[in-house]
This record gives sequence, structure tokens and C-alpha cells, in this order.
Amino acid sequence: MKKIIIAIDGFSSCGKSTMAKSLARNIGYLYFDSGAMYRAVALYCLENNLVSEDGIDTETLKGRMGDIEISFIADPVTKNSITLLNGRDVEKEIRSIEVSKVVSKVAALDFVRTDMIDQQRRMGESKGIVMDGRDIGTTVFPNAEMKIFVTASAEVRAQRRYDEIIARGDKADYNEILENVQQRDHIDQTREVSPLRKADDALLLDNSHMTREEQEAWLIAEFKKITGEC
Ligand code: CDP
Repeated sequence: MKKIIIAIDGFSSCGKSTMAKSLARNIGYLYFDSGAMYRAVALYCLENNLVSEDGIDTETLKGRMGDIEISFIADPVTKNSITLLNGRDVEKEIRSIEVSKVVSKVAALDFVRTDMIDQQRRMGESKGIVMDGRDIGTTVFPNAEMKIFVTASAEVRAQRRYDEIIARGDKADYNEILENVQQRDHIDQTREVSPLRKADDALLLDNSHMTREEQEAWLIAEFKKITGEC
């Protein structure tokens, strides 16, 4: 069976990662979370005092890009993907609200995007991957055979993010999360480099009122249509 590239883009917190992960597992593909890479760069900035009231110290960050190595390994037990920043497991830290607050500013920097996009394209060289993000179907893999653009209302998305944090046993403030979701939507859609937009040939999926099972079935059906599998 010929392997393809599956690009899943969309707004923040609309369940792209869960969907991309389960699709990859169901069809035996590798899953890559491009957002985790931007989050890891944002964490690097926070840990190295490159973030202040005035914004990000872009000059220093530019000079340090060669020192930032991001990779993924599979958790030996759960098989979930773990993000490594210079070899250190940062999977939990990159999901914090502190990182969420600066990540879209970091991701709007052209030199950061060029570096990440190069790495992402290398990950797709042998196909058979599902990658989720904001610009996977438009910029990273414009020739991806299957493209999905996911959306849901901001309130539904904030509630999902809130539930996820509470389920992890951490504290969360719904209003703070909603504000963060809306702010990131705005930055992602209006930035100059690779703004978030639906690729013309992407399938639109509004999952505001879909269960996980319905969504999974929909994705598998689309995958089969595209690959000609019955
Ligand atoms: O999980 P969630 O959808 O909230 O976000 P994420 O996928 O972890 O991505 C975090 C942030 O990184 C986004 O809000 C974008 O600003 C940025 N990002 C991007 O610019 N391009 C990508 N391909 C992926 C993420």
C-alpha cells in the first residue's frame, strides 16, 4: 500500500493532537506534533530569560537557534510521543499556561519557522506520517495527499483544554484559558509568515458537536477514499 502524508491543521485546542494520534495509530503511521516543536522553543526562551515585558529577545534567540535541538521519542509504556529539548523530556512543561502565553509570539518569528519547517519536512521524507499544526497543509506539505482543517467554537475548545488540565490533576481557570485561546487564534491568523488558514484542497471538519468515535470513523472513511482502500 502506497504511504501518504496526512496534514491536520486548525485552531488551538480543537482536539487535533488526539485525532492525529489516534488516526496514526489506527493506520500504522507515525505521528508528529509540530506545535510541540514551537512550544519547546518557547520553553527554551522562558528558561533562558529571553522573554520580558517588552517581548522576546529575538536577536539572542536567532543566534541560539543552532543550540536548540528538538526530537521525539516514544514512551516505552504508553507509546505516546515525548518531546525532547536538547535530549531532556519536556513533554509536561511545554503544555503549561506560561508556555501557551508566549508560544504564538515565538511561532510568528520567521527564522524560527524556517528552522522548524526544515525539520518537519525531513520527518516526512519517507511518507506514512500524520502531522498536526497550523500550516502543515499550506506551507510544510502543500502536496500532502490528505488535508484536514479542524475547527470548533472558542468556548468548546476552552472547555476541552480546561477539562484536560483538570484531568491531569492541575489547577485551571476557564476564563484565562478562553482568553488565551482567542488571543492565539488572532495571532495565528493575522501573522505575516504562514498564517493559519484552510488550504483550498483541505477537508473541513467542525467537531463542536462530534463524539471522538464519530470523528475517528469520519477520518478513517476519508483516508480510505483517498488511498483507494475499501
Ligand atoms: O494544542 P494547541 O492546538 O493549543 O496548540 P499547539 O498545536 O500545541 O501549538 C501551539 C502554538 O504553536 C500555536 O498556537 C501556534 O501559535 C504555533 N504553531 C504554529 O505556528 N505552527 C504550527 N505548525 C504549529 C503550532
